[in-house]
Order: sequence, then structure tokens, then C-alpha cells
Amino acid sequence: MASTLRLSNSFIILLLFSLWVVEAHTSRKLISIKEQQGQDLNHFLKDGDFDDPSLYVYFRLNDLKLGTRLRIYFYKNDLQKLPPLLTRQQADRIPFTKSKLNFLLDHFSISKDSPQGKAVKATLGHCGAKEIEGEHKFCGTSLESMVDLVKKTLGSNVDLKVMTSKIMAPTRDPISYGLYNYTFVEAPKELVGIKMLGCHRMPYPYAVYYCHGHKGGSRLFEVNMVTDDGKQRVLGPAICHMDTSMWDVDHVAFKVLKMEPRSGPVCHFFPLDNIVWVTK
Ligand SMILES: *[C@@H]1O[C@H](CO)[C@@H](O)[C@H](O)[C@H]1NC(C)=O
Repeated sequence: MASTLRLSNSFIILLLFSLWVVEAHTSRKLISIKEQQGQDLNHFLKDGDFDDPSLYVYFRLNDLKLGTRLRIYFYKNDLQKLPPLLTRQQADRIPFTKSKLNFLLDHFSISKDSPQGKAVKATLGHCGAKEIEGEHKFCGTSLESMVDLVKKTLGSNVDLKVMTSKIMAPTRDPISYGLYNYTFVEAPKELVGIKMLGCHRMPYPYAVYYCHGHKGGSRLFEVNMVTDDGKQRVLGPAICHMDTSMWDVDHVAFKVLKMEPRSGPVCHFFPLDNIVWVTK
């Protein structure tokens, strides 16, 4: 039963991706199903552990230039361990609100005090929280609902492009995911005059994407970075949030970057399973 379910989920993922790629006029170059497999969003959980390597995604605006060397963590999850992607019909039958937490924990047979139970609670809280001033945010519980909400936010008649982080192996050695020092081997290229939304996979029993974008004050870049040994190259998006004055003072980025909360821009790379929607 479990393996049939997994098989049909992989099929649905493939099918939806095909439709989605066509629908969004997605540049083939920028998307790969494989990119959707990684996941590590521990940094969204407030009580994040600072030894957590997934926190190595933040950097400062001043670092964004040719030759800067940064420590970055890219992690790829085992596909078998990923939660299933539901269709809209399936997802719409399950409540998605913190007021139904006990029902949901029971429904998914998760105990309240387990790490999974805490993650479900945190995700529902995160998704249900009000937008902060100047920010768009929503959670998509299926690809269809994510695409609809992206279009509603960015404009129904705009051409959308998808950007994801990709790891490549120029020397054809197998890729080993983890924490490495990467150097910008090209000057980061800014995408100007665009609107964007970043979607992060949330810890939940099925695939849930938390998408957010700022109404102004974010700058999106395309980066090209290589490890010290030249065996791994990362191509992908990086964003700088120029105005952090409304952010939670306890945001982990301020701690990771050892900066005074809300005092300046915060930039970050995107984990491999994140999706960045950009208007052309
Ligand atoms: C990266 O560079 C720093 C500083 O040069 C060094 O301490 C660290 O061991 C290097 N490697 C990794 C994997 O972070």
C-alpha cells in the first residue's frame, strides 16, 4: 500500500511538474524535478539550534561580489523520506488551520510533543500568521493552489519564470551535499524590474509551501559559485531584503550574521527545494 502510494505520488509530481512548467512558461534551464527533493527548513523553527548547518544560508549585502568566499550549506533529502504532494482535491478535504491542531495531529497519528507535532503546530502558526506590513504571504497546500496564489499575487497575465538553486559537478565527481566554502566566480547578476515570490517547503505531513515576497525593497540576484576544490558549482537565486526594520527582533538571520536586529539588509541563498517565482 505504502509503495503504491509513493509511486502514484511520484507520478503526480511528474505530471504536475510537466503541466506546471508549460503553464508557467518556465525556462527549462532553471528547473529540475531533482531540485524539489531537498528539504531542510529547521531555520524556520524559532528555537533553531545554532549548530544547525542549514543556518548557513545567510550573508551580508557587502559580500555579494566577485571573489567573496562564503560558507554555505546545501542539503538534499532522500526522496523516499519526503512527504507526499497532494492534489488540490485531496488537500482541500483536510483542514489547514491551527484551531484544528488536535484533530490534525490525531488524523496524522502524530503525538503533540514529538518533533513532528511541534513542526505541524509551528507550520500552521506560520501559515496562519497575519502578513507583516509590506509583505505578501500565503501557504500553498498543493501545487495548483500555489500556482493560483502566485498568479493572484504577481498578476494573472504575467509571464512567470521559476528559479531554483542547482548544484553541478564540473569534474563529474559525485556531488556531496553539505557545508562548503563557495566563492563567487562571476559578479552576481541583479534581476531588475521584476516581481518575485519565494516559496519554501514547510515541515508538514504533506507538501506545503510557504510563499512570501516583499512589496518593495528586495533585490534578487543570480549567482554562480564554486567550491575551493572546484568540484561543485552552485547556480541559482539569492535575495537581499533591504529593509528588515519590521522583522522579528529574534529572527535567526540577525544572530547568524551577528548584526544588530533590524539594522540593515539581510541576504540569503535558497535551499535546493525552494522555488522562486519571478515575473519576466
Ligand atoms: C571554510 O573556510 C573557513 C575559514 O577559512 C574554515 O574555517 C572552514 O574550515 C572551511 N571549510 C568549511 C567546510 O567550512
